[in-house]
Parts: sequence; C-alpha cells; structure tokens
Amino acid sequence: MSQAEPSVLPIYDRPDFYSGYSKLARSVDGLPSAHEWPTLRKMLGDISNVRVLDLGCGFGYFCRWAQHEAGARSVHGVDVSARMLERARELDADMHPQQQQQEGSKAVSYSREDLKTITLEKGRYDLVYSSLALHYLPTPSFQRLVREVRNTLVPGGRFVFSVEHPIFTAPIPPDTTFRASGEGDARMWPLDSYADEGPRVRNWLADGVIKQHRTVEAYVSGVLEAGFVLKELREWMPSEEYVRENPTDAGERDRPLFLLIAAEVRK
Ligand SMILES: C[S@@+](CC[C@H](N)C(=O)[O-])C[C@H]1O[C@@H](n2cnc3c(N)ncnc32)[C@H](O)[C@@H]1O
Repeated sequence: MSQAEPSVLPIYDRPDFYSGYSKLARSVDGLPSAHEWPTLRKMLGDISNVRVLDLGCGFGYFCRWAQHEAGARSVHGVDVSARMLERARELDADMHPQQQQQEGSKAVSYSREDLKTITLEKGRYDLVYSSLALHYLPTPSFQRLVREVRNTLVPGGRFVFSVEHPIFTAPIPPDTTFRASGEGDARMWPLDSYADEGPRVRNWLADGVIKQHRTVEAYVSGVLEAGFVLKELREWMPSEEYVRENPTDAGERDRPLFLLIAAEVRK
C-alpha cells in the first residue's frame, strides 16, 4: 500500500464538517450507536484469527472491536482523512494503552490512503470490511477498488461492506417539501433520476458535501464482475418493533437507509 497525499482537502478534514461529524452519536459512542451494526455484525460471522483490512476506517471503532473483542489476528485501517486517523490513534491510546506501548503487540495499525488510488498486496487479507465510505467513490473508482479487494483476499476471503442506500443518495429536487416522520403523505424520498449515477451535493453537517450516487444494480454488478460470490444483501431499515417503541421514527421505514453486502472469494 502507498501513503497518499490527497490533492484536495478531504471533506472529513474540513473543520466545519469534522466538528459536526465528531458530535454524532455514532462518533462519540461507536458501534453501539450505529443502528445497522447488529445486522452487519451477523453478516461478519466469526472473525477470530483473521487478518482484517478496514477501508475508510474513520475513528477506528470497528478496528478496535475486531482487534480487541472479536479476536482478529491483525487489523489495519485506512482512511484519506488525517484528522480521522489522528482521532482513531488517540482513541486507541485512551482505550487500549498497554497494547500501544508494546512493540509488535496486538495494536491496530493505520495508514493514510485514498481509496480511489490504493493498491493492495495480493493474498494479504482474510476479511475486507468497509462501513459507510464507498458511497464517496465514483463508480469507476468503486469498480477498481472492488477488483483490488478481490486481489488482496485469499481464497474463501470475505468482503463485507455498508453504504448509504442509493435511494438515500438519489437526487432531491429543489422544490421538494419534506414532511416530518409519520405525518401526512407528501413525498419524503423522491426517486427522480435514480438511474443517473454521479455526484450528489448534500448540505449535511456542512454545505457542499459530495456523495456519489449509483444504483443497487451497480453495487451488485461491481461485486460480481470482480469475481466475488454474493452471499448476502440487506436493505436496512428500523424494525417494526423499534418504530413501535420510537413512534417519531415511523418515517424511517419509508425507504431503506443502508445497503449491506457480504461477498466471498471462491475457495
Ligand atoms: C461516514 S465515515 C465512516 C467511518 C467508519 N467507517 C464508521 O463506520 O464509523 C466515512 C469515512 O470514509 C472516509 N473516506 C471517504 N472517502 C475516502 C477515500 N476516497 N479514501 C479513503 N477514505 C475515505 C472518510 O474520511 C471517513 O472517515
């Protein structure tokens, strides 16, 4: 892998965005505050004694869980944002101080890499994981990355990832009126131009955040065309039971929030 110096400041390094992102519940509390985590956790299965790569690791919550709780043999996290990696290392030092001090210990390792250009060593990992990072890549970069992932996995190796569901990043026409969850029948999640892949500008935590829209078909085709066997696909929404207990979130069942995919390299 090569250390990347991005040519433009990554969005997660922008102070206004970083400040908002750092305050999200999942940024403060980690995996227990990520609603989709129990589903992803099941899709991962047993990861004891495996070599793990986390693409777009952010604050490293998954890396620490894999290394220190799930019994992975080794864990490496990559991210393009210097701020996110700095915070990941701080959290490692706070939460697992002994492992940080011992040379050759069970510490998580990190490197700064751009997923658009990263190259991965052949047969280096047993599991490649990514949570909510791949929707920042345009489709050609996504396809290239999935081929790299295929190359770095051993036979039987697994690729498990989540992205914002494409319905979530489909374009929203400027005159759309949003209704509050559970109210009326005004359209909340318009799907106009679903087929048109490309950048979608969102004002989320800061103005001008760019995510990359592509169809569910494009995600699945990228995985299959790279030579993976598709093992599981989930469109994550809160359960009916959750909505009964949190009725103000009823509208969250109007459309899927996350697309979760598990794929495997043939043995
Ligand atoms: C929503 S955060 C998710 C972080 C972490 N995976 C999690 O689930 O908590 C997205 C992460 O992807 C990273 N990212 C976005 N584009 C990237 C790229 N081109 N290369 C590497 N990392 C990228 C961001 O810097 C950020 O840390």
